[in-house]
This record gives sequence, C-alpha cells and structure tokens, in this order.
Amino acid sequence: MDRILLSIPHLGPEEAEFVRLAFATNWISTVGPNITAFEQELEEHLGLPAVALSSGTAAVHLGLRLLGVQPGDLVFCPTLTFVASANPIRYLGAEPVFLDSEQSSWNLDPNLLADALREHSARNRLPRAVVVVDLYGQCADFDPILSLCRQYGVPVLEDAAEAMGSTYKGKPAGTLGDVGAFSFAGNKIITTSSGGMLVSPNAEWIAKTRFMAWQSRDPGIGYEHSEIGYNYAMSNVLAGIGRGQLRKLDRRVQRRREIAFQYRDAFADLPGICLMPQREYGVHTNWLSCFLLDPPRFGMDRDQLIAALDRAGIESRPVWKPMHLQPLYQNAARVGGEVAEGLSRRGICLPSSSSLSSDDQLRVINAVRHAAEAGPLAEVPDSRDICSSNC
Ligand SMILES: Cc1ncc(COP(=O)(O)O)c(C=O)c1O
Repeated sequence: MDRILLSIPHLGPEEAEFVRLAFATNWISTVGPNITAFEQELEEHLGLPAVALSSGTAAVHLGLRLLGVQPGDLVFCPTLTFVASANPIRYLGAEPVFLDSEQSSWNLDPNLLADALREHSARNRLPRAVVVVDLYGQCADFDPILSLCRQYGVPVLEDAAEAMGSTYKGKPAGTLGDVGAFSFAGNKIITTSSGGMLVSPNAEWIAKTRFMAWQSRDPGIGYEHSEIGYNYAMSNVLAGIGRGQLRKLDRRVQRRREIAFQYRDAFADLPGICLMPQREYGVHTNWLSCFLLDPPRFGMDRDQLIAALDRAGIESRPVWKPMHLQPLYQNAARVGGEVAEGLSRRGICLPSSSSLSSDDQLRVINAVRHAAEAGPLAEVPDSRDICSSNC
C-alpha cells in the first residue's frame, strides 16, 4: 500500500479528452479554444469575467498592479497565509503590514483591521490595498471588512487561491473584493497542473490583465512596449485540464467536506483535537482538513503527531507559518500576530484529497487515534505492514 499524501490531483477522462483536443488541433500555446472556453465557463460559474493565468501568484501580482500598488506603498495582508499572498507586494516595491487572524475563522480579524485603518489614517499613511485571504477553503468575514475598506477608500484584493467553490452569504469566493485571485496548482480542489485566474467586475481591468499577462504589447504589429509586462498567460493544454475539472467542482467540494466531517466525527471522543471552525456565513470547502491540537489534553504536540503519522506512511503538514515569523519578513510591520502564532503552532492539515479512499481515511484516523492514546514516544505501527501481512 502506498504512502497517503496530503492533497493530490484528481483527474479523469474528460480532462484527457480536452488535452487530446488541444494536441489534435495543434493549439498547445497560450491562445486557443480551451482557454476561451475555460474563461467563459468560469465566468458562468462565478458571475464575473475571468482571465486564465500561469499561476495564482501571477493573479495576485497583476491584481495588486490593477489596484495601483507602487514602490513605497503599504499593503495590508493577513499574517497567517502562504507566502504567495505577500511576495507580490514586494515584487512591486511596496511594503506589507501583516495583520493577525480572528480565532473564529482563522482569517483577517475585522476588529484589528478597523484599528489599523484608523491608526494609519491618522498618520496619513493608509495602505494602497488590503489583501484578504480565504484560508483553507473558508471565506473571511467580508461584510465588516468591505465596509471598513470602503469607509477609508482602500480597495480589496481577495486571495481566493485556496477557496474555489467556497461561498460567503451565497456569493462565490473570489468575487467579493475589487479583484479576485485563484490558484489551480496541483494540490488545489481543482487543478490545471499549475495555473491561476484573475476575476474582476471591472471590464477595463480584465482587458488590462490580458495586456499585462502578454508582455504589455502595445496595439499594432511593431512589437512596441510602453510599460512593463509579464509572461503570465495560461497554456491552452492546461486550460483543457481546467475545463474537465470545473465540471466536477461541486462533487469535489462535497467530497472534501465529507472527509473533514468524517475526521471530526471519528475524533469526537478524543480530547484536545478539533476541526477548524466552520462559520455559519458560508460554505467552507475544507480544501484541507485542518485540526487544532491542545497538546496536554491530546497527548502530544503537533510536530510529534506529524512525525508519528510520517512513520505510519501518512503525509500531514503544519498550518501555514505566519509571515511575521518568516526570516524574509522579519523587519516588516505587523499588527498583533499572537492568534496566528497559536493557530500555526497547534494546527495540522490531514490528508484531504477528494480521491482519498475510505480505507485510506480509516488508516489516517487509526494512526491519529493510536498516536493520541500511546503518547509522544509511541511508535505508530506502520499500517502498510500490518495490512500487507494480514491480507
Ligand atoms: C493563499 C495562497 N495564495 C496564493 C497562492 C499561489 O498560487 P500558485 O501556487 O498557483 O502560484 C497559494 C497557493 O499556492 C495560496 O495558498
């Protein structure tokens, strides 16, 4: 039996057929029918125009450019996120200010945002933009966040890289801010192997995104360029994978939620382990099944559990390391950070692939239970060996 991985691609014959079509018609570069159709299908799904890009990072980068971020600007960003939410701020020569999470959603704390905006406004140093991340498949609490940002006239980039298929008060993740970014990396709920997407209600910005993603080439045949551009377009081959994947998004969401709730129910009698909060305001896809440990009650800490699962042939990961603790951002400004530190220190992501079989999920459940019962020095038996000797 194989090692159980955290979150792997889940593909089928539909994807292969769209890729085959790309080969058959020789559209294998960054233009072609799969791209046009993928963008249209996403627009139908989300209700906003979309541009397919080479990565989620590219979408965050171009999104921040659309919002006018320039050298010397400040940009607010949650500290608890993957580094790709923050790096594009620095690509543009701007400086991030990292804000803490709220316990109830793990996302940007609206109360802290209110304080930070008030304080920065008093110093005449408002941020050029606020990045709001929808962590692990759950939207941030957008109503208070948007009303604050509107009050101060600061635009919002929604980093929905982890939240395709999530909703907030009935609206799809990615459509809540002025511009939204998605990732289709191989570990995401749907994938194009690597890829991303930018969405916005602003038609001019959509056109500008296409322009920038194709090296900002001025109109005409002369290869003339008046501003800096990027090679950020998605390939027609990969867009074919995306078309097949998008058709199954609802099933993938359902399956990821099912997996998270099965873990939750299986650990209900164990002390000191609980599922990431599920806010009532929307659908949390549980892209990754994240749990918080209380080590004294659970019997071991997060790193000991990761090591125990590893010995049992199971991949798990810590919750993101906050940006203010990264060597890269050690000198960046921050507002709070203790909540994010606690979530990161105690949080673990368990295998969550939509293709995870019931037997494999049971292996994970048994390994977690065994670790909790046996304590930190326990050798979790390698369930692969047990199984192969029994079968
Ligand atoms: C929150 C967040 N933002 C941005 C990204 C960047 O996406 P990509 O890997 O497609 O560049 C990711 C994931 O990888 C992410 O988790």
